[in-house]
Amino acid sequence: MALERTLSIIKPDAVAKNVIGEIYARFEKAGLKVVAAKMKQLSRKEAEGFYAVHRERPFFNALVEFMISGPVMIQALEGEGAIAKNRDLMGATDPKKAAPGTIRADFADSIDANAVHGSDAAETAAVEIAYFFASTEVSAR
Ligand code: TYD
Repeated sequence: MALERTLSIIKPDAVAKNVIGEIYARFEKAGLKVVAAKMKQLSRKEAEGFYAVHRERPFFNALVEFMISGPVMIQALEGEGAIAKNRDLMGATDPKKAAPGTIRADFADSIDANAVHGSDAAETAAVEIAYFFASTEVSAR
């Protein structure tokens, strides 16, 4: 398996529940290393840009409103197969369908307030990490 990096966001619902540390512990136990991190209140423009691929979807406006409803914790994670590993830790988009023991099963309330984001492929991971972090803000390999 290749050493990869992926972008993770702990969304406003999970930040408000005070479970950043519990989520970080899951990353660490799975062998994912935090190589960049920042807490941030996203602007509407930043949230719209980040989710631009979903612009035509019916849930887009609600998703943007949710993502700017409070601070988010943004991190780049590194590890063997980091992209799939993080998606496994997250669980399905809809927490009702997420496997027991996943972040979304344990901390998410609904499909729209679903605790975490994780990049879904190598190409999107690179774009998403660069969206939030300058190269000088990410630890060297
Ligand atoms: P998506 O990329 O399909 O899921 P994932 O976050 O698991 O990669 O959707 C992006 C986000 O859009 C999702 O985390 C929450 C929101 N969303 C909704 O609010 N309603 C929906 O029906 C879907 C599919 C997504």
